[in-house]
Amino acid sequence: MVVTGAGTGIGRAVARRLLAAGASVTLVGRRAEALREAADAEGGERAQVHPADVSAEHGARSAVEAAVARFGAVDGLVNNAGLARFAPIEKADLADLEAMLGVNLLGPVHLIRAALPELRERQGAVVNVSSVGGALAMPGRSLYGATKAALNSLTRSLARELAPRVRVNAILPGPVDTPMYGDLGLDERATRDLVADMVEATPLGRFGTPDDIAGWVCNLLDPEASGWVTGALVAIDGGRSA
Ligand SMILES: NC(=O)c1ccc[n+]([C@@H]2O[C@H](COP(=O)([O-])OP(=O)(O)OC[C@H]3O[C@@H](n4cnc5c(N)ncnc54)[C@H](OP(=O)(O)O)[C@@H]3O)[C@@H](O)[C@H]2O)c1
Repeated sequence: MVVTGAGTGIGRAVARRLLAAGASVTLVGRRAEALREAADAEGGERAQVHPADVSAEHGARSAVEAAVARFGAVDGLVNNAGLARFAPIEKADLADLEAMLGVNLLGPVHLIRAALPELRERQGAVVNVSSVGGALAMPGRSLYGATKAALNSLTRSLARELAPRVRVNAILPGPVDTPMYGDLGLDERATRDLVADMVEATPLGRFGTPDDIAGWVCNLLDPEASGWVTGALVAIDGGRSA
């Protein structure tokens, strides 16, 4: 399995679950220390650390090559690495849009292309970690939402294009308590207000935990649990999109 953004947050919880279930996992992200810490805490021998920038084609390709070299196969790909930068449209920095497109859309494209021969051979599965922000109107967060809407579209089209050998699904998390909220490009007060608004807009009345999401990602990878599921956009969001 290849899991991107595996050093922190949702990706780390996914890697932990996969390793606990006996899978071999290549943990990908840019910061080697975060990956190493996650691998040491969660994994042992079946955890491989591969620092790479997935927004660059060579970075994504190197991650798949490393997984094949170490474990002999890739039968699952979790495109979880992501970046969120929130701003009203007239204040948005277009460099942030480029960076979001790079990791939220180009990253999954590069990784799916690199892993496709392996995934086809092994009837594997792709899970894209998108966002309810890609399906709902998100004033003040439109550019992030647009990159995730693109990922949702990619998921549905590739589900048909790559069937029947490869399944492609997406999880759409609502607000989840992860390091992402320390790095939104907002000041402290705006972040606090946003968090309060998000809890208010979530019927189950709290942020999700990384584990609330990770179990569903693992189900979509598992052919026993979801062998007849492809093209699904699964909202795991405390009712946010209901
Ligand atoms: N938290 C939420 O409320 C929420 C809601 C909806 C969707 N999501 C989605 O969930 C996913 C995981 O986010 P999270 O909440 O767990 O936040 P997070 O802890 O900040 O995780 C993001 C991960 O992506 C990695 N990453 C970023 N850019 C990268 C790049 N260019 N190449 C490789 N890795 C890169 C980061 O590691 P490095 O910095 O070391 O590269 C980090 O480990 C994201 O796709 C996010 O959009 C989160």
